[in-house]
Amino acid sequence: MVNSTAAIVHEASLIDAAVERLGLDGYSVTPGLLPLDLVRSLATEQRRREAGGQLMAARVGRGAVAQALGASERHVQSSWLNHESAAERHFMAFAERLRLAINRRLMLGLFEFEAQFLLYPAGGFYRRHIDALHGARSRVVSLVAYLNEAWTSDDGGALAVWAAPAVVAAEGGVEGGSGAAESAAEVMPLAGTVVLMLSEQIPHEARVALRERRAIAGWFRINPSSAQRIDVAR
Ligand code: OGA
Ligand code: MN
Repeated sequence: MVNSTAAIVHEASLIDAAVERLGLDGYSVTPGLLPLDLVRSLATEQRRREAGGQLMAARVGRGAVAQALGASERHVQSSWLNHESAAERHFMAFAERLRLAINRRLMLGLFEFEAQFLLYPAGGFYRRHIDALHGARSRVVSLVAYLNEAWTSDDGGALAVWAAPAVVAAEGGVEGGSGAAESAAEVMPLAGTVVLMLSEQIPHEARVALRERRAIAGWFRINPSSAQRIDVAR
């Protein structure tokens, strides 16, 4: 992986623009943010896990009801990223630069990052949802990065993104909670494109993919126990 000064400066300016848009619109779409050599090494690592039987049918939410619902909400396999391969370490370092940029500009106090490889088979999808989990593990900013070279609109599988309710209301449009409203963006899952979204506010959907579709989904979280720690220290 070549990390020339020019590449680092280029990435930093793309990240700044993406974070600014995230603050203004609640989401941002940045084609070419992940360099192709990193995309390819991540796809290779994902294939290695696939061959080793490490991709699991993904579940939605927690508990028996969520799991029973899961199959119709989501048809995709997943595997958590770790730091075992160079590709994953490079990706995690990228996510860390992003985390720092978001905290600097939007002051969200993001504390940690977790991510998983996603593999949608032909026919795979993930219906309209928001990413924030109820409970302690608070997701604040969602990231989706795509690993598919030469994807066209004939392949389906766009990511539909709806505007945050506040943004829609400010524009005098329909209510944000309604599933009937037109999406604000339809994003091709093309290699190198990175999408950021406010996890609690932006509904989104992976439309049915007509061929195998690869992605990484990640979540920046705040520290759920920081308030408690302050109490303990007193
Ligand atoms: C998710 C998700 C979108 C995609 O995993 O939460 O929204 O394009 N993925 O795969
Ligand atoms: Mn999601």
